[in-house]
Amino acid sequence: MILVTGATGRLGTQVVRVLRSIGLDVRCLVRKGSEYFWLNDTGAAYFFGDLRDPASVGRAMDGVRHVIAAHGVRVERTGNDHRAVNADGSTALFAAAQARGVEHLVYISCAAVESDDDVPALSSKRVAEAALAASGLSYTVLRPGLFVQNFADLARRVEANGNVFLPGTPSMLVSPIHTRDLALMALASLELPALKKATLRVGGPESMAIEDAFSRMCRVNGLPEAHWPLPPIGLRALATVARPLGRRWSNHARALAAHYSHPSAVDGASMGATFGIPLTPYDEAARTAFTERHQSEDPTAREEKVVHRQFTATIYEPGVIKWEDLPAGPPPRRD
Ligand SMILES: NC(=O)c1ccc[n+]([C@@H]2O[C@H](COP(=O)([O-])OP(=O)(O)OC[C@H]3O[C@@H](n4cnc5c(N)ncnc54)[C@H](OP(=O)(O)O)[C@@H]3O)[C@@H](O)[C@H]2O)c1
Repeated sequence: MILVTGATGRLGTQVVRVLRSIGLDVRCLVRKGSEYFWLNDTGAAYFFGDLRDPASVGRAMDGVRHVIAAHGVRVERTGNDHRAVNADGSTALFAAAQARGVEHLVYISCAAVESDDDVPALSSKRVAEAALAASGLSYTVLRPGLFVQNFADLARRVEANGNVFLPGTPSMLVSPIHTRDLALMALASLELPALKKATLRVGGPESMAIEDAFSRMCRVNGLPEAHWPLPPIGLRALATVARPLGRRWSNHARALAAHYSHPSAVDGASMGATFGIPLTPYDEAARTAFTERHQSEDPTAREEKVVHRQFTATIYEPGVIKWEDLPAGPPPRRD
């Protein structure tokens, strides 16, 4: 059994799909009220818990051999902030995995932790990485730079509004990676002996300037390359202006500044060789990332029901239980 945290996220969804596509048993740690419905078709089990609740994390670990930790916080919410989830939650997850004899754990960090930036999104990940190294677990830390999907999001804004703010240093070298390739790297990390107790920066097959990654994304999808630059200094100024609106927006702007100003290029050829997988060329990944809408946007995804019980492994059993006997879904999360 492989436990996937952050299963409903952009990366976690791909991890679940990759693992299920080769028939592996997957348990998704999802929060009660998460948008987990779009994983129904994968046949993965759901376990309702929360990284901020160590008891639930411990119980989620029952019978688990491997863990892929793909959780994260994009924009902080009350009580669900970088420290509570990335630092404390990850530390609790590693302790539970160690206590339950998990054989290997893959943790998704990010390339920008290598910088000196002291922002919560990064300091919390540094805490998690240190806790993992000290845990005694067999582990692999993958530090990706920007996802191809980040550039697809920018292109969607161009499609909708005709223009977009392009964050970061335009000339900064990055190696955008498709989340499916990253999911395959996580899977390979469970087995490859060379990746035990290893921490490595990972990325896609091609390095390019941020501005080129954006331009190519627009070009292959038939969009104008229209953008206004939003350099890190502008993002930091936004963070200061946003402070009265609450910590979350200010921290979000600071995290963006850090992610989009840290050089995260990798040697693409060595990536493929290390993990033994062919990586998706950027233009192809850009086309896929732009056209693949997230399953959450599929209006039929919610119609299938699942059996769920708080803090017990929960299996979707089509044909076993009558639809009308299924309990109603959990209430929506409010945070
Ligand atoms: N996006 C990038 O370009 C990029 C680049 C480098 C590294 N990364 C790292 O890659 C990882 C995945 O990124 P992503 O873009 O896929 O993130 P994402 O889409 O924001 O997903 C975050 C996941 O974490 C879960 N989560 C949040 N708080 C939780 C809690 N208290 N308990 C349990 N689960 C919780 C979310 O569940 P809910 O559905 O309940 O909210 C969601 O499934 C993150 O660690 C991120 O820092 C991202």
